[in-house]
Amino acid sequence: MNHLFIANWKMNLSLKEAEVLCREIDLLRDSKSDIIICSPELYILPLKEKFSSICFANQNVSEIKENFGAYTGETSAYMLAQQGIKYAIIGHSERRKLFGETNETVKAKAENCLQAGLTPIICLGEDSINRKKGDYLEFIGEQILHSISKTDKEVIIAYEPIWSIGTGVVPTSEQIKEVARYIGKIIEEHGLLENGFKLVYGGSVSSENIRDILSVAEISGVLIGKASLDREEFFKIFQGE
Ligand code: 13P
Repeated sequence: MNHLFIANWKMNLSLKEAEVLCREIDLLRDSKSDIIICSPELYILPLKEKFSSICFANQNVSEIKENFGAYTGETSAYMLAQQGIKYAIIGHSERRKLFGETNETVKAKAENCLQAGLTPIICLGEDSINRKKGDYLEFIGEQILHSISKTDKEVIIAYEPIWSIGTGVVPTSEQIKEVARYIGKIIEEHGLLENGFKLVYGGSVSSENIRDILSVAEISGVLIGKASLDREEFFKIFQGE
């Protein structure tokens, strides 16, 4: 199975820098790895035009049901799909924390993606308080039940423990496996994703820990933040899998 390497650039890079990075990725990537670049929305179309063999994704979509309308600042999943964009990150913890997104918002956004033909990359994961208290599995279970609707379409789930994002602290492969199995169990018990799903891990992924993370059989790939902005580190990650 090809592993999935999803680069979440967040609100970083100039368009010029993004082009340089894409050029290098285009030259150096191999056929064993599937790469998805989640660039700032403004850059997707010019990058897609120049690098037609790279898959680009958005970092968000609107929760509004309509495809068009008087919703200043919003971009519908339909608009993205019309431009040939196939994926969008939904419910990243930064959006939940800084922009007040709830499980219900995430559910609406994911449904809009599915309706438009986009594959949502739905992020979830506990914070350090849940982890220390020991109720992280229940917390993740609640996130799943309230943010994922029943569908037979393709869905990617990203397990991103908040305590690991940008901290350099990474769960052990045993800890990842425990959560991965729990996610699979809840989804199966509730018959949510009829055709299965891909599970990726995100949080301080680096060339040092990539082997350990991908050694977990339930993990199909990784969602990479900071390290995806560093050309050498990004290559080491997908070459060192
Ligand atoms: P870091 O890899 O910088 O910890 O970020 C992870 C992340 O938020 C990916 O979506």
